[in-house]
Amino acid sequence: MSRAVFITGTSTDVGKTFVSGLILKKLRAGKISAGYYKAALSGAEEAGGILIPGDAKYVCDVSGIKENPQTLVSFIYKTPVSPHLAARIERQPVDLEKIERDFNSLKSVYEYITVEGSGGLVCPLRVDDKIIMLTDVIKRLNLDIVIVASSLLGTINSTVLTVEYAKKLNIAVKGVIMNYFDENDFMHMDNKKQIEKFTGVPVIASVSKNSQDIGAEAEVIKRLYKEV
Ligand SMILES: Nc1ncnc2c1ncn2[C@@H]1O[C@H](COP(=O)(O)OP(=O)(O)O)[C@@H](O)[C@H]1O
Ligand SMILES: [Mg+2]
Repeated sequence: MSRAVFITGTSTDVGKTFVSGLILKKLRAGKISAGYYKAALSGAEEAGGILIPGDAKYVCDVSGIKENPQTLVSFIYKTPVSPHLAARIERQPVDLEKIERDFNSLKSVYEYITVEGSGGLVCPLRVDDKIIMLTDVIKRLNLDIVIVASSLLGTINSTVLTVEYAKKLNIAVKGVIMNYFDENDFMHMDNKKQIEKFTGVPVIASVSKNSQDIGAEAEVIKRLYKEV
């Protein structure tokens, strides 16, 4: 039986991939069978006629996953825009059945699967005659989420909004991970306190700039994953 968690963020570029890399590194250092999956990635680099899914490649490199990163992402787009727009331009619509199939096949390989989202929690994946949102993927795969948030000014607002939106959709939030955290910065320390107070969700790790470690025990990380 496998376990999985969905890593989202308060926005794009907040550090979901960076944090996922550190999580996978920690689990795999503890000899845990840990893998990575991403449903849709846009802005892929082309090399030798092949689209390289940068997020998956980064996580594999940091954590020592030997798998071809292309097999860990279901929909890879070159155009660096929201997946729904890239999908329309490249005429390759996202399809939940394929996502579920690909995720299920990873379940036969890995015990702990870290699923990285695209953008923030509100992210359209397909908008044509059909609408598929990122949250539909979370629901279809039956996952709980962890939110990567910044430690900087503005993070209370974006983190509380993300948690409230998740609650509205009945998506369980297991924890917040604060990125670019500096424990000597009184505002970062206060942001952490206020986020916990106003969301009721624990900050389970605080990651500093260029950190090589997630800063939480593997046992704590493992508790974020739910049986799937
Ligand atoms: N704690 C950190 N220290 C140094 N660089 C970071 C850190 N977090 C993120 N970055 C860098 O910031 C950029 C965006 O982060 P990334 O993890 O790709 O964001 P997301 O996956 O949320 O879009 C990347 O170049 C990444 O290496
Ligand atoms: Mg990413």
